Amino acid sequence: MNSAIVGLQWGDEGKGKVVQKFSRSHEWIVRFSGGPNAGHTVYHNGKKVVHHLVPTGTDKNKLFIGRGTLVNFDILNDEIAKLSEIYPDIKERLFISEWCRVITPVERWQDAEIEKLKGAKSVGTTGMGIGPTISNDANRIALHVFDLFDERIFREKAKLLKKFCGYQKDFEDDLLKSFNKVRERVEDPKISGDILFEGTQGIMLDPMYGTYPYVTSTPTIPSYLSYGSGIKAGYEVFGVFKAYVTRVGAGPFPTELNDDTGDAIRKSGGEFGSTTGRPRRCGWIDLPQLKYAIEISNTDHLVMTKADVLNGFDKIGVCVGYDRPFCVHDLEDVNAEIEYIKGWKNLESSEFGDFVSLIEKYIQKRIDYISFGPSEEEIKVR
Ligand code: GDP
Ligand code: IMO
Ligand code: MG
Repeated sequence: MNSAIVGLQWGDEGKGKVVQKFSRSHEWIVRFSGGPNAGHTVYHNGKKVVHHLVPTGTDKNKLFIGRGTLVNFDILNDEIAKLSEIYPDIKERLFISEWCRVITPVERWQDAEIEKLKGAKSVGTTGMGIGPTISNDANRIALHVFDLFDERIFREKAKLLKKFCGYQKDFEDDLLKSFNKVRERVEDPKISGDILFEGTQGIMLDPMYGTYPYVTSTPTIPSYLSYGSGIKAGYEVFGVFKAYVTRVGAGPFPTELNDDTGDAIRKSGGEFGSTTGRPRRCGWIDLPQLKYAIEISNTDHLVMTKADVLNGFDKIGVCVGYDRPFCVHDLEDVNAEIEYIKGWKNLESSEFGDFVSLIEKYIQKRIDYISFGPSEEEIKVR
């Protein structure tokens, strides 16, 4: 059976950890969207690795970076080098679509410039050049991996890109050097066996279904999966959500806690960005938001992560409604209605059971898996 693992909040729900666990029962792990803005933290043989571009497989998986993924070759090479220490054959198991769009220094520079121009209204991007690569692509001047195989074509296209964007510096030689380290891995493989599609970001960061303009620029919803991978496949959707909510960067966050409780969650959950190191904004679980994300993603199975982070809190807040109906593009000044329940000491306690029941009653869906720690073993089926 094929599976898709997607985030149901604003990213960092623990998708990587869940992918790692499920990778054992799938042959292929496929990325279909996002780029190096993603940061999926997992532990391979006890060693912490943050995956930005290499799909989060383990020792036997074949890994495919599908065409919907934006690639930065420097970041990819660093990651391959790190992973090779754990899995010496990782490179031979990795395949990169020739259709992936290439992030160049031009787009990273544009990303910073647009953010500067927006000032107080900046998105708080990861600075990876995601938005500009998509807009350059829409303008039909972005670079694709297939351009890099012919140096003359590449230099010609790079020249146009630089001219249009007003970028002066040369990057061509460095980029080619970096690309050459992985050029033999560019191949659209024949895929057979079970596939696990590894989603990036979260539904609320989708450019068309999320909190626009405070979103990323590649789709995060599972219906993009075939488009972004070129693979025609049926699949079950596993929606991952935290027992609370975090968000990095700007944008509406109805249940945000700008107080000691928010700080306590950040500390307990180690909520600092895996790509940028920024402190993540923290708040209570938001059920109207979660219900929306479940619907948009057509989630079949729910996975709750990080409830263990809230162990020992006196009381836990749950947002059970707003002062107006949920509207994804109108969350800026919404007032969240918070219901407080008694906190729990551990996840075996009845208080935690009450928390789970409250969520399930609101979203009208069962939570199938509970993750209770960062390692791949720390997850149980309910
Ligand atoms: P992703 O981007 O969705 O893959 O999530 P990140 O890796 O950015 O952030 C999730 C963080 O929480 C990582 O550091 C994981 O190791 C950690 N994590 C995942 N699941 C759990 C869990 O159930 N409990 C705890 N305490 N940590 C978890
Ligand atoms: P994973 O896959 C959390 C956020 C950025 C910013 C907005 C736009 O680890 O869950 P971008 O650089 O994409 O143009 O930034 O999206 N963002 C993420 N937040 N987790 C991520 O990925 C994110 N990828 C982008 O912080 O608010
Ligand atoms: Mg992350």
